[in-house]
Amino acid sequence: MEESLKTMDTKIEVMISEEQIAKRILELAKVINNDYHGKPVKIVCVLTGGFMFMADLVKRLDLDLKIDFLDLSSYGSDTKSSGEVKIVRDLKHSVVGEHVLVIEDIVDSGRSLKRLKTHLTSREPASLKVCTLLDKPSRREAELKELSADYIGFVIENEFVVGYGLDYDQRYRNLPFVGRMV
Ligand code: IMP
Ligand code: MG
Repeated sequence: MEESLKTMDTKIEVMISEEQIAKRILELAKVINNDYHGKPVKIVCVLTGGFMFMADLVKRLDLDLKIDFLDLSSYGSDTKSSGEVKIVRDLKHSVVGEHVLVIEDIVDSGRSLKRLKTHLTSREPASLKVCTLLDKPSRREAELKELSADYIGFVIENEFVVGYGLDYDQRYRNLPFVGRMV
């Protein structure tokens, strides 16, 4: 893969390479394998952005696991306070009494994570943890400052990124690296 991808009006520069992601996934998997040793796990992948990270991570998990999906959508996000997060596709199976590990692409304002946690907690799992590829703590809403994932791939600055599952207007999700639009 080239170091950057150029379309008509946009250039995308590599910020986190394919190799860096693969290396970090191995590190995360080691910790997760250790933390969940001997326990069955329910992976909950947050669509759409989490699909690639989830796929690569689960290949490195040596655990008895099941996989389910959930899709969120934010509405009215033009102002900070009106951004309501909706569950647009719910889980297919029950998580009652299960050890749930949520896989997210990025934690930004924290609204999605807050909504997810409330939603999944109400489903009575035995435990609930979150693994995110990226974290942008500087973007967290004031009242959600304490909110963070249990496993974090990379902490990044306040800049918009695409690739490796993340999109800009539904595009660039297929890029094998995390890039910035320049
Ligand atoms: P939240 O603001 O933490 O609720 O994040 C909402 C969602 O916005 C994330 O799950 C991503 O799908 C998306 N998002 C946030 N920051 C970025 C980014 O830099 N690039 C692409 N999508 C993003
Ligand atoms: Mg998302």
